[in-house]
Amino acid sequence: MADNRPIGVFDSGLGGLTVVKEILNVLPNEDIIYFGDTDRVPYGTKSRDTIRRYARQDEAFLLSQNVKLIVAACGTVSSVASDIGEQLPVPYVEVVSHAAKAAVKATKNGKIGVIGTSATVMSGEHKRVIENLLPSAKVYVQSCTLFVPLVESGFTDEKDVIVYETVKRYLEPLKEAGVDTLILGCTHYPVLSRAIKRYMGENVTLINAGISTAYAVKEILSEKSLLNDSQNPSVQRYFVSDVTPSFKTTAHLLLGAEPTEEQLSQVDIEKL
Ligand code: DGL
Repeated sequence: MADNRPIGVFDSGLGGLTVVKEILNVLPNEDIIYFGDTDRVPYGTKSRDTIRRYARQDEAFLLSQNVKLIVAACGTVSSVASDIGEQLPVPYVEVVSHAAKAAVKATKNGKIGVIGTSATVMSGEHKRVIENLLPSAKVYVQSCTLFVPLVESGFTDEKDVIVYETVKRYLEPLKEAGVDTLILGCTHYPVLSRAIKRYMGENVTLINAGISTAYAVKEILSEKSLLNDSQNPSVQRYFVSDVTPSFKTTAHLLLGAEPTEEQLSQVDIEKL
């Protein structure tokens, strides 16, 4: 059996394109419908109630597009609103639990760092999931508020002093704690991997939540016989709530390609 409907992926903005990139690496035949809430981004500084209301609207939009599975690419939504996603009529995949599993597998000294937005860190979700899997784990969390604006402003080069000093400022406590594994718990952070690695050192394993999630999507689709069996290359459609002036450059940075005019549409997410 197969199911050739698209996979729905959503995020607070364009950050989730890093997750789309990984899904396409692992599942090149799958079609994708992406929704990025570029009008209301960031979610990471908003209240729990607001994030949950937005998540419901984003998921309702993807369901209206007849998707077969929904991925919450957003670390913030995955941390504070996954119970809502789990009630959807299609399989739901979030980015916290798969990254946590990968981190537990990778750690040797049991000291795991987690970085994300303020809402992600305040939720305590990663710590809860990791401690469930490995009760002896020591989990160190840190919100890195400036990482998203840094990436969106194009500051990603590990040799850039601004990038290096910002990374150092946030990650110093985790380095001092001796974490050997670090979960990149926010969509944008994989773009800073080289800078993070440079500061944390080669011996620290970075867990890209997008990669762990992409493999989980493959496993779920295969278990449920929902894989796309067409031999055609993936068709992708990108919906945003605002086409911002920096759309093209940011999309290029995060996805590695620019969606074409035909692939891009604007939706009024509040009115759906
Ligand atoms: N996409 C968000 C996340 O992964 C980061 C941007 C935001 O704060 O909305 O948590």
